[in-house]
Amino acid sequence: MKKRMLLVANWKMNVVSEKEAVNLFNSIKNVIARNSTIEMIVCPPHMYLNQVAQQVINPHYNIGAQDAFPDESGNRTGETSIAMVKNAGAKYVILGHSERAHLEDRTDVARKVTAVLENEMTAIVCVGEQQRDKNWKKELVQQLRDSFNRVPKKYADQIVIAYEPAWAISSDKKNPATSTQYNEAMEVIKKELQKMFKTLKAVESIRFIYGGSLDDKNIEEYMKNTDVEGFLVGRVAHDPRILMTMFRLIEDDFEKKALAALNL
Ligand code: PGA
Repeated sequence: MKKRMLLVANWKMNVVSEKEAVNLFNSIKNVIARNSTIEMIVCPPHMYLNQVAQQVINPHYNIGAQDAFPDESGNRTGETSIAMVKNAGAKYVILGHSERAHLEDRTDVARKVTAVLENEMTAIVCVGEQQRDKNWKKELVQQLRDSFNRVPKKYADQIVIAYEPAWAISSDKKNPATSTQYNEAMEVIKKELQKMFKTLKAVESIRFIYGGSLDDKNIEEYMKNTDVEGFLVGRVAHDPRILMTMFRLIEDDFEKKALAALNL
C-alpha cells in the first residue's frame, strides 16, 4: 500500500507570539482536505506547541517539535525535553537540522533519535552534505551511521529521513537539489540503511522526503522523476496560498499515479 505523502511545515523561529502562531495555524488548517492522501505536520517553536496542538481537529494534521532534549527531565537550563514536547501534543520531532549543527554533533542527534523512538513518536531525521564536493557521499554515510548506530530495526516505521543538503536550505538563491541529485543521494542513503538495518523490509518502512528551497514551482520535478514521499518546507511554511497549491499538485500527482497503476 502506498504511504501517505507528508508535508512538513517548519516554522523555525519565525513566529513570535501565541496569537501569531494560532492565527497562522488557523489560516492553514483547512489546506489539507479531510479525505486527503496527504498528512501535514506543522512544527511551531516549542513555546507555542501546546496552543497550536489544541487547534488540531482535522485528522490529516499533526504537530511536530523542531528539536528536543533526550532526557525526560533534569538540570538542563534552557532545554526542552522530549517528555515536554510529547505532553504538549507533538507526534513528530525534527532532529539533526543543519541550522542546529553548530549546537550539537551527531552523537547528540543519535541520543535524541533513540529517545524520540522509545517515546513512541516519529523522528524526522535530517541528513545532507555541506557541499557537493568529492566527499559528499562519505559525509552522508557518516551522518547516517552516527545517527542510527543504536537504533533497532523494529523502529523503522517511526523514522522519516529528510534529505536536506545544507547548500540548498534557506538559500536566498533558491537553489534546490535537482531531482537527479535527490536520486543520487537516495541511492547512497538507502544502500547504507540496508547495510545498517540488515533488511530491505526495514528500509521500505522508513519514509524519505526532500527539503531545501522548495515551493509550488519546483515540487513537480520531484514527483515526476523520483519516488519522494513528502516535502519539508521552511520559507513557504507560512504561506497558506503556496501550501494550498502544493497540496493540489501532490493530490493530482497521487491520483494520476493511482490511475496509471490501474492502467486507465
Ligand atoms: P527552506 O527550509 O524551505 O526555507 O529552504 C527548509 C528547511 O529548513 O528544512
